[in-house]
Amino acid sequence: MENTKNSESSGSAINVNENEQELQNNIEKLVTALPQENSYHFRQYKYNGTWFPSFSIRGVISSQLLFQADESDIFLASLPKCGTTWLRALIFSIVNRGRYKPKDSPLLFKPPHDLVPNIEIDHFRDGLPQNLEQLSRPRIFTTHVPYASLPNSIKASNCRIVYVCRNPLDTVVSYWHFLNSMVKNNNASARPKRIDDEFLNEYCLGIQAYGPFWYNTLEYWKVSLEKPESVLFMTYEDLKEDPIFQLKKLASFLGFQFSAEEEAEGLIEEISTLCSLGNLKSLEVNQKGIRLSIIPVSAYFRKGEVGDYVNHLTPSTVETLNKLVEEKFAGSGLVFKSKLITGE
Ligand code: A3P
Repeated sequence: MENTKNSESSGSAINVNENEQELQNNIEKLVTALPQENSYHFRQYKYNGTWFPSFSIRGVISSQLLFQADESDIFLASLPKCGTTWLRALIFSIVNRGRYKPKDSPLLFKPPHDLVPNIEIDHFRDGLPQNLEQLSRPRIFTTHVPYASLPNSIKASNCRIVYVCRNPLDTVVSYWHFLNSMVKNNNASARPKRIDDEFLNEYCLGIQAYGPFWYNTLEYWKVSLEKPESVLFMTYEDLKEDPIFQLKKLASFLGFQFSAEEEAEGLIEEISTLCSLGNLKSLEVNQKGIRLSIIPVSAYFRKGEVGDYVNHLTPSTVETLNKLVEEKFAGSGLVFKSKLITGE
């Protein structure tokens, strides 16, 4: 029987047994027919109710068709700028602590993105799977795709998914800084000094990479309540407040619980220090290099504060965003913390 899968939004069927060229052509046809917006920095495509940036839409579609989950896989899901880099480093260190002590960690020599790649951007970027064979088990992946748009093989498995979210006001500020540090904008004097209205309007309309943010977050939130053994919902703010407690919770969820000896030896604190913003930012490997031809690796490590938005948003923007968040998350039980937490 033919193995034909539906690419969910358009209803057009793509045959996964087609040769590579045909598959890529069909994905291309599908992408061309999607609703598109030229948003703040790149073109976005609306697919399955979500805005996907031009550099990941093909990877999203092809990974839906071709990615085969393994029961031991671990997925770190998030919206950009919510703490993905931090969680990459933490999950990698927890899971691989039998192989590497913190002082010998590969994190000292490689950026977290290279150790924990993203499915749709790194492995399926051009429509075909790349570099999946060489990964050690358990495989750890990141994804920005909302739960409903994950490859079915992930949803049908018992894989563990960790979702990290962050209060939307700090996220939008972080996102703004990030976009403005991209290589094409690296002339510091030409960068806008203040977050502009066009960018904020798009964010409020949900036109942001992998947004609307409320849809992406609420989906994982709901699944985490229904299937807490499969989805762990974490927040950037909780991690800042009590990293040790959160690390223990994360390790237990992943099936890599810390032993009493490890705790007594201070291993949890060591991992927390290794993965801290101050430490990762100070490493040469995270100060040089360009990711995806356009993003300086250093742009992933900025200030890492909770409540930094007060330094960048006007009181009226804060009010507008707070109202939007209240409205979109009403009745969900999800409440964001945004009081100032600075330092490591
Ligand atoms: P700020 O821009 O507010 O400083 P992502 O990794 O999802 O792209 O998120 C980037 C945000 O996480 C940035 O926030 C960045 O500074 C912060 N960050 C990166 N690594 C971190 C770490 N190890 N600990 C805490 N925050 C970190």
